[in-house]
Amino acid sequence: MDPDLADINAEVVDLLRAAYQAPDAGLVLPLQATGTSGMEAGLAQLLEPGDTAIIGVNGFFGRRIVEIATRVGAEVVPVEADWGQPVANEHLMAALEAHPDARLMTVVHAETSSGALHPLEELGALVRDRDVLLMADCVTSLGGVELAFDAWGVDFAYSCTQKCVGAPPGMSPLAVSERALERVRRRTHPVPYSYDLQLLHDYWVKRPPVYHNTVPVLGIYALHEALREVAAEGLSARWERHARAGAALQDGVRSRGLELLANPEHQLPQLTAVLVPDGVDAKQVQTALLREHGIEIGGGLGPSAPSMWRIGLMGHNATVEVAERVLSALDAVL
Ligand SMILES: Cc1ncc(COP(=O)(O)O)c(C=O)c1O
Repeated sequence: MDPDLADINAEVVDLLRAAYQAPDAGLVLPLQATGTSGMEAGLAQLLEPGDTAIIGVNGFFGRRIVEIATRVGAEVVPVEADWGQPVANEHLMAALEAHPDARLMTVVHAETSSGALHPLEELGALVRDRDVLLMADCVTSLGGVELAFDAWGVDFAYSCTQKCVGAPPGMSPLAVSERALERVRRRTHPVPYSYDLQLLHDYWVKRPPVYHNTVPVLGIYALHEALREVAAEGLSARWERHARAGAALQDGVRSRGLELLANPEHQLPQLTAVLVPDGVDAKQVQTALLREHGIEIGGGLGPSAPSMWRIGLMGHNATVEVAERVLSALDAVL
């Protein structure tokens, strides 16, 4: 509650508005919890028991959205695509035609479990005049690829601090449209207390701030600093840096005869999913990269994932030099 922190909080909110390109959003703030809680906060605010939600699923995190929406009592209409493919916007729109009373449509902008980028701008244009809210999981996209919350007509976006924003984990930046806030105000069921957007607004935006919960002060300082770096670099320059790093890694992987999982037209720069060649022990390679080269890469997420390595080049790590380091370590280990 220190007044100096209130000033820093106000700057964090302004910097987040800039990062999301959301100057007109009804509310922008960092929730004091990780990306999963941002997801849950959105679903718990925008859905009431019995509401229909159309959810794009093309990997592990789309599946998690289905799981949480089901837990909040929604009627879920999943629209599926294969791992590595984006969910087709025409299939999402067909689901909306079949369920015109749907309250929410949700997609994962950057599916970290496969490296696929969703054409979110196009989806925003398609649903703009419809009576359905658009929610986007921007956990891996914020700060790494183009994202324009206002211009694309997104109603609820959540992200994290630990990926392309380049801060420690622990907070979930949210952007909420005025239209979505209006929908929340008309709810008949109460919202979960710790995710109550009005109460959070009264701490993060109202001055003097009203206590809601004790905030993670050190996480806020770190996010503040990371967002100042984002602003100093400039969004376009940051997206281009991620694009150059991703291209260097992906070209290098392909030139070694390895295959990528994602559809090349929808390949994320910041997350590269590499299919594990036959006869190679995926886990052994991950362990050797970590123990011998100090490089941690991921494996497939969840039981239905194809066998893969997932290499993230995000935030500070999104450079051609780091891509080259990863490639030579991979050469040594393979
Ligand atoms: C696309 C996506 N959504 C949601 C999450 C969950 O975020 P967190 O692990 O911060 O709870 C992640 C985490 O990697 C993610 O990549």
